[in-house]
Amino acid sequence: MSIKTEIIEINIDDNQIFEKLKDYYKKGKLVAIPTETVYGLSADATNDKGTKNIYKAKGRPSDNPLIVHFAKLEQLDNIVSLDNENVKKLISAFWPGPMTVILPIINKGIISKNVTAGLDTLAVRMPKNKVARLILEKTNVLLAAPSANTSGKPSPTKFEHVYNDLNGKIDVIIKSEISELGLESTVIDCTKYPFAIVRPGSITKDDIEKVLGEGSIYYNNQEDVTKIISPGMKYRHYSPDADLIIYTGSEDSLLDILKNKGSEIGFITYENMKNKLENFSVNIKYLADSEENIEECNKNLYNILREYDNENVEKIYILDILETDKSKALVNRLRKASSKK
Ligand code: TXA
Ligand code: MG
Repeated sequence: MSIKTEIIEINIDDNQIFEKLKDYYKKGKLVAIPTETVYGLSADATNDKGTKNIYKAKGRPSDNPLIVHFAKLEQLDNIVSLDNENVKKLISAFWPGPMTVILPIINKGIISKNVTAGLDTLAVRMPKNKVARLILEKTNVLLAAPSANTSGKPSPTKFEHVYNDLNGKIDVIIKSEISELGLESTVIDCTKYPFAIVRPGSITKDDIEKVLGEGSIYYNNQEDVTKIISPGMKYRHYSPDADLIIYTGSEDSLLDILKNKGSEIGFITYENMKNKLENFSVNIKYLADSEENIEECNKNLYNILREYDNENVEKIYILDILETDKSKALVNRLRKASSKK
């Protein structure tokens, strides 16, 4: 069954659009919106029908809770507890921006049960993207929004990605720019101290320790299933159709493997390698100018994986990336994309 998906571009002065979106949210409709991390698939977080529709449209397991997006802190009054000095410091340092915090719920009656998937905690985020903020401010609706992809696909960083996955399944796609950061927000469990990063993102442990002090936060090891705090991390994620191989040998030995291969093999590399690749016939895509440019790598990764999906590639190679505090999110998403779980 297919529904008609409206494509809308936001014009700041067009208040009719915001009235229409507000009405749609009240009716339980789904609206894909841009954010600075990835596009989100939004519904009114207080609406059972809308939030249920999110899981259906994405094919998302119902035990994987959603993040609630908002524009003004007052919107969280009576919903979650912000009564914590360290949380307040995080908020003033990183919001609006790519940080999601998990907090204790104080009133279970407001947010739909579909959003929390039965947990006593709620994940909340104040996005920075201009269009997202306009929609949040002008509709004054709390928006539950996971990434706007089909479950198991890379998160969408461009309008076209959302269209490919969800056209005919959702009510509106807001057409906007490429997502500035390209990887999902840093998710921080603030219900216990020290805090735990349950999903790495562009705000890193070092960034947070600069604000809260050393020892205030640690990376929760998501590879250990007994320690999974964020339910979404246990599912296979971000995966391209082709097998993604993170090559741990030397660059020269990888080039040896690739030099006689054809376009059915992909190679994700950097512009500064170009001169070594002149006679290669593999399908080459550049993640950034160099491996050091982590921001650029983050921004391009999902788009590249999706491009390969459209190009009948069987295997994609990438040289292993050195894991540092800064590259942690990138390495995490690459590992997930390459895992066969
Ligand atoms: O950047 C982002 O965070 C994007 C944009 C749209 O804001 N959203 C996003 O949502 O990535 P989603 O649903 O794809 O990922 C949310 C993650 C999941 O891993 C989920 O399990 C976790 O956050 N999560 C949500 N609520 C939680 C809670 N109460 N406790 C633990 N983990 C939670
Ligand atoms: Mg997601």
